[in-house]
Amino acid sequence: MLILGIETSCDDTSAAVLRKDIVLSNVLSSQDDIHSKYGGVVPELASRQHLQAINPIVESALQQAGVQLSDIDLIAATQGPGLIGSLLVGFSYSKALSHVSKIPFVGVDHMAGHILSIHLNENKPQFPYIALIASGGTSSIYLAKSFTEFSCLGRTRDDAAGEAFDKVAKLLGLPYPGGPHVSKIATEGNPAQIKFPRAWLEADSLDFSFSGLKTAVLNFVNTCKAQNKPVNIPDICASFEAAVVEVLVTKTIKAAKLHNISTITIGGGVSANTSLRTQLKQCCLDKGIDFFCPQITFCTDNAAMIALAGYHEYRKNGGTGLEQDVYSRSHLG
Ligand code: KG4
Repeated sequence: MLILGIETSCDDTSAAVLRKDIVLSNVLSSQDDIHSKYGGVVPELASRQHLQAINPIVESALQQAGVQLSDIDLIAATQGPGLIGSLLVGFSYSKALSHVSKIPFVGVDHMAGHILSIHLNENKPQFPYIALIASGGTSSIYLAKSFTEFSCLGRTRDDAAGEAFDKVAKLLGLPYPGGPHVSKIATEGNPAQIKFPRAWLEADSLDFSFSGLKTAVLNFVNTCKAQNKPVNIPDICASFEAAVVEVLVTKTIKAAKLHNISTITIGGGVSANTSLRTQLKQCCLDKGIDFFCPQITFCTDNAAMIALAGYHEYRKNGGTGLEQDVYSRSHLG
């Protein structure tokens, strides 16, 4: 079965062709250059750019896979969550393509794509597993029971982890998206230099909160400036990253313990963070938990994971009606 996946939930336009779980192509057009001067994604600009990019990106994905549209058996597109204007471009395009080509269509929850992205690896986990999904829009912990059954065990109550990275980067004068820049500069700093707060919330809570941490960084920088002390950016980045990673790792391990699960996976843009990968891997090793992390290309937003999730959703529940609309909050668990 050949699946065409289309992803436009935020600021990346992506199309991919899969033969079941084999990636034949995965093409992405990034809008980072457009949004970087504003220090964050401007929704109106994002949807306009998706409109320009979508057709060439889909054609390129088909071409790189060496197939024609008429060879495709299923079109899968992100239905939500995300920016409504951005989602509408890919979702409406896919519905129109399905209508004219008579190829079945399925709408996909973006979070299911991230949770299943690990199955694009050669080395795949068995169900059930705990999936930490940390990106610019979410920080959530899921229990994945099968390719189509997911329960959300915890989620962010305010800023997502990636959003905190981006906001801290902005206040330090670093480019957008901030995560990779903060993480790179962090390697030159001392993670124990500044004790930024960790929000553990209630005992056994698997929810996250990163807005207080972001404010603590802002207050620290302002205090340094007010006292004419140097602002040591590498130490701030390293100490901030250490605080985020400690909370993400601790709560993910706790989720596995509480639910008696012996496999952990990660996904979402922040899962590209080296410190998070290294520390979670080490903790899993110490606790006898199997740890799986996707290739970096499949951590950030991509259409390959949407095609894969769409394939399983279609097999289990059939296609999505063309009268269906996009949604801004995840429908999972
Ligand atoms: O999943 P994703 O590609 O897209 C959306 O959230 O829409 O994630 C992007 C987020 C951004 O906030 C970015 O700063 C963060 O992932 N990110 C990172 C790293 N690479 C990307 N955060 C920390 N360390 C990284 N290496």
